[in-house]
Amino acid sequence: MVCIVQQPCEVALKSIFAIGRKEPIMSKSGLEGVIVGQSRLSYINGDEGELIYGGYAIDDLARNTTFEEVCYLLWNGKLPNRAELDGLKVELEGARKVDHRLLEMIRQFPHDADPMAALRTAVSAMGLIDPQANDNSEPENRRKAILITAQMPVLIAAYDQVRAGKEVVEPKSGLDTAANFLYMLNGEEADDARVRAMDTALVLHAEHGMNASTFAARVTAGTLADIYSAVVSAIGTLKGASHGGANVEVMRQLREIMESGTDPKQYVRDTLAAGKRMMGFGHRVYKATDPRATVLRELADKIMQGSEAKYLTLSDQVRAAMAEEMEAKGKKIYPNVDFFSASVYTTLGIAEDQFTAIFAMARVPGWTAHLFEQYANNRLIRPEAEYIGPRGLKVKPIEQR
Ligand code: ACO
Repeated sequence: MVCIVQQPCEVALKSIFAIGRKEPIMSKSGLEGVIVGQSRLSYINGDEGELIYGGYAIDDLARNTTFEEVCYLLWNGKLPNRAELDGLKVELEGARKVDHRLLEMIRQFPHDADPMAALRTAVSAMGLIDPQANDNSEPENRRKAILITAQMPVLIAAYDQVRAGKEVVEPKSGLDTAANFLYMLNGEEADDARVRAMDTALVLHAEHGMNASTFAARVTAGTLADIYSAVVSAIGTLKGASHGGANVEVMRQLREIMESGTDPKQYVRDTLAAGKRMMGFGHRVYKATDPRATVLRELADKIMQGSEAKYLTLSDQVRAAMAEEMEAKGKKIYPNVDFFSASVYTTLGIAEDQFTAIFAMARVPGWTAHLFEQYANNRLIRPEAEYIGPRGLKVKPIEQR
């Protein structure tokens, strides 16, 4: 059920009792702390830096499961046994073949487009060419969730090849999502350590409660629009620099420090003094280190070799400088998931402007699992705005305005 229920506080109680009245109930900037629905998918304790998917701690999942197992968990509420996992892998592999019309469309995209705009358009086109797009039945939505999860990595890699003037690399049979993605992107199979790093990054990004893009997806599905439209809403929302777009900005800042030779401490001070934000820090919910950042830091350590380690060294310096500055200001601002993912993706050979698209392909199981919940127990999501404009004005003839 999706209902607007506030946190237990005086304002909240007033707001619950006010439901059904014509007057504005209350306003809460950015909907902070507002519970907009129920979900069995994930839980975040921002003060303790805790994240669980379907009952399992993210740390446990990141170390002991794969992206496909997490997809199964989110879509079915339980981890798969061997036969169930094999079944899902077969379904994903069968769904990777992209319609030739869609590939043709991607070949026509401008070569200098934002990859998130390319992805948003490509997923929208998936809905355009699916004759069952408007069928919101559960079996159809499950088929589409598998299709979008299977094809999004192919679409991202295809655009990357097209814009470089290369031939699109077809997915390879027998490779799972992470391995296939690196294969299609780089034209050769990655080693086990890199595949495992990619796979873990996908697990870490797969689900995260009622974040902005998931909320956008649920709002769209709440009108009974189709699953493709809902995922397109989510992609558009993830694109912003305050959400998924932050990982691109993290790398831009790291590069700026490296190229200018500025002392990282000074860079952090100057950025904050200019009233700007250090990207990859801070979170609406976490008031402690994001647990995903801790796992990503370890991953970075494992895969960065030789000269690549410079990103990690610099990231650690920036993190230390931010910790010092935030402590002095008494603010609970810590690294979030985007901070270390930026240097991990760079080490995996992924272009900087593709980072947010990687986030999107990892988040599809989370988005679609939320959409299953939404369609199963739907109520239109329609809050109100507190009107602060003028009243009682009279329209004058246009010549007199
Ligand atoms: N650097 C410096 N100061 C920050 C940062 C940051 N990254 N983040 C928050 N603050 C400060 C703000 O300046 C503000 O200070 P003030 O109270 O003195 O004015 C205070 O912390 C609270 O900031 P808000 O913007 O009100 O917090 P909100 O919960 O709305 O913001 C957000 C969360 C958007 C993520 C913010 O921390 C931010 O802009 N971070 C940088 C972008 C980023 O990394 N986004 C990725 C988030 S994770 C994800 O979406 C996957």
